[in-house]
Amino acid sequence: MHQLSFPLALSFAPGGESRQAALVRQLKAAILTGQLAPGDRLPASRALAAALGIARNTVLLAYQRLQAEGFIAGDRRGTRVAALPLADARRPAPAPVAGMLASRAGQLPRRSGDALLPFAPGVPDLNAFPWPAWRRQLQHAWGEVSARQLVHAPAGGEPALRAAIARFLRLRRGVDCSPEQVFVVAGGALALDACARLLADPGATAWLENPGYPAARSAFIAAGLKVVAVPVDRDGMAADAERWQVQPPRLIFLTPAHQYPLGAVLSLERRLDLLQRAAPGQCWIIEDDYDSEFDHARPGQRPLPALQGLVADAPVIYIGTFSKLLYPGLRVAYMVVPRWAVRHFGEALEALYRAGQAVEQRALARFFDSGRLLRHLRAMGPVYRRRQDALRAELERRFDASAILGGQAGLHLCLRLPAELPDKAVVERAAAHGVVARALSDYAIDAGDGAHNGLLLGYGMADEAHIPALFHQLAAAF
Ligand SMILES: Cc1ncc(COP(=O)(O)O)c(C=O)c1O
Repeated sequence: MHQLSFPLALSFAPGGESRQAALVRQLKAAILTGQLAPGDRLPASRALAAALGIARNTVLLAYQRLQAEGFIAGDRRGTRVAALPLADARRPAPAPVAGMLASRAGQLPRRSGDALLPFAPGVPDLNAFPWPAWRRQLQHAWGEVSARQLVHAPAGGEPALRAAIARFLRLRRGVDCSPEQVFVVAGGALALDACARLLADPGATAWLENPGYPAARSAFIAAGLKVVAVPVDRDGMAADAERWQVQPPRLIFLTPAHQYPLGAVLSLERRLDLLQRAAPGQCWIIEDDYDSEFDHARPGQRPLPALQGLVADAPVIYIGTFSKLLYPGLRVAYMVVPRWAVRHFGEALEALYRAGQAVEQRALARFFDSGRLLRHLRAMGPVYRRRQDALRAELERRFDASAILGGQAGLHLCLRLPAELPDKAVVERAAAHGVVARALSDYAIDAGDGAHNGLLLGYGMADEAHIPALFHQLAAAF
């Protein structure tokens, strides 16, 4: 028998690989790694079958497949490895190297931390969600759909859901919109990507709050935009007239209801100033209203209605998400675009992405229409507020009240730390104690200057009865 130039003993890949598939895979690997060289003769099928203890037919079928794919060729004298340009295939796989990704990908802020541990910000209480009711709505929706709803959907989403969202936003957030203006998309991050790529050209200037939402920075960097860090104070993003002159923006990203992460509410004066200066066709305001459904405003605090509803037909894209009201893995969010942009924006969105999720969207529309979703919202508001109060009480025992920021809405508080407690070190030690805090400096655009040293503490998943003990664990990291 002709000897193979390497020992061949059949080994099987996990998952129940057939003998034929295993033989094909191993011979292919031998050819691609140079163990079998072009021109090398393969054993006769009968001999190889006997050597491996398998049926001859298995070897014949494997050879047929390798021949069909061009790896081997048969002639009168037998079967040989085909003449292949193998230099590249034989080169050892390089270690990860600089230049592997686009340079923009290397500039993206990195994510870290276990989102399910206590104090991870941005995560709602997934144990309190009415799962049985949601499962029923999903089952119902599956019963309704046919093949028509399971292919790619037109941009915009299920009409019933668009109508429910428009109603919800008009009533609860003061958003000026009709269902046609609502575009349901697969998550807030995708909405940001769509804004970055469809509303601005590479090189255009995008203003971001500093500190601000890293996913917005990622979307803008990945789209090749020039990110300009705009400072934030207790009235929200502080953009003065000079900045408008020197660095006129194409996009302005902001979180007016509850600045992420510091928690300021954008003042009416600044809202009106932005709306007055942003001229349609030249500038877009992206209003990310990510967590204001949980409104904890106390007497005397500013109300939180949407900036979008202040001036009719302003160039504002309003973004909301169901990540807080339902769960982050659902990946359903929405954008509200001005009436005058609906057609063009919808066409561009449809050209860039593929829409789907008909089942989830129908279930969600029914969840709205049945009143169950709003009941959940009404039930969770006070729960989160009590959790915030419990966390605040613990923080106030150790820190000055002026170091505790935000909390008029949503699921997190921000704590400024003194310089002798560097936030990244605290976060690292806290992780060792089983609690997650996010470093405020990770949200800063120029993290090096030390101006933003603090922690983001989410209370969505932390039961108020457990907060003192959890905080004790966190405090061990100080
Ligand atoms: C500031 C901000 N915007 C938007 C979102 C929504 O993100 P997504 O819909 O991708 O979950 C979040 C989620 O945590 C957020 O923190």
